[in-house]
Amino acid sequence: MTAEFLAPFQNRIEVKLAQRLSAFDQPKTLSDAMAYACLGGGKRLRATLVYLSAEALGINLDQADSTAIAVELIHAYSLIHDDLPAMDDDPLRRGKPSTHIQFGDALAILAGDALQAAAFQTLAEDVLLDPAARLRLIQALSAASGIQGMVGGQVLDMAGEHQTLSLSALSEMHALKTGALIEFSAASAAIMADKQVPFERLLRAFGAQLGLAFQVQDDILDETSSTETLGKQQGSDRAQAKSTFVSLLGLEAAQNHLADLTKTALNLLEQSPLETDNLRALVHYMVERKH
Ligand code: IPE
Ligand code: IPE
Ligand code: MG
Ligand code: MG
Ligand code: MG
Repeated sequence: MTAEFLAPFQNRIEVKLAQRLSAFDQPKTLSDAMAYACLGGGKRLRATLVYLSAEALGINLDQADSTAIAVELIHAYSLIHDDLPAMDDDPLRRGKPSTHIQFGDALAILAGDALQAAAFQTLAEDVLLDPAARLRLIQALSAASGIQGMVGGQVLDMAGEHQTLSLSALSEMHALKTGALIEFSAASAAIMADKQVPFERLLRAFGAQLGLAFQVQDDILDETSSTETLGKQQGSDRAQAKSTFVSLLGLEAAQNHLADLTKTALNLLEQSPLETDNLRALVHYMVERKH
């Protein structure tokens, strides 16, 4: 599936991430593990959302770089920990051995820890943003990452193994573990720019729907795709008896649910006075993607 509009943002974040990580070069075993987990793979959808959100609000992309870097660092950390034997026990990520397979569990855990700290340090140190904007972004990203967001959702994911959750409990789990970081990314430019509260509300609602839809597609691909295409182990959810939209609803109903969520996300964009053609294209890419 081609997505030409993505390439400039993917190239931009790849360079910015490499530059940022080069500042963290000691101890070398740790910096190697951090770079391994962050660079040369990944669709960069969260960073792209940050950049498109900035474009939509007329914010210079230079001012969005630290947020794009920060969200990809948090995402990379979440993937390292997600793959650990104590969690999903997945040996393959982005077409390569998972970080703990390559570097051992201890270094993988510590690389995740260090990436998380690096994300907030990156925002705190961005001299292109005024201190109040940095603080707002740090507040919003920490909320989206921790117990009220990704980590809280991961705990519900673990607790949901071998269970039959209600649709609302499953939606809540997905909204936290995956939706929160995507919601943050979509709303980040409004969070950065003060007095953009109506846009923040709209972009958050849009990002939350998109994040949920994105994870439903992740569940569908885990069932229907191949390890080679995904670059991660196909069938991992079934093997771990995870609660997913496919396990709860079956494949066809999960696909219908995905279509409904996508429609709602697109409707929210329709209500926006912002220039959002690229955001619309990104929605289609995120829910129709093959990996
Ligand atoms: C995978 O996210 C983990 C989920 C939250 C579903 P992505 O599919 O965005 O992973 P990369 O960054 O492209 O590898
Ligand atoms: C991941 O969900 C959510 C995270 C916070 C990393 P999954 O466990 O389904 O992600 P994959 O399928 O391993 O990428
Ligand atoms: Mg998981
Ligand atoms: Mg996983
Ligand atoms: Mg998955």
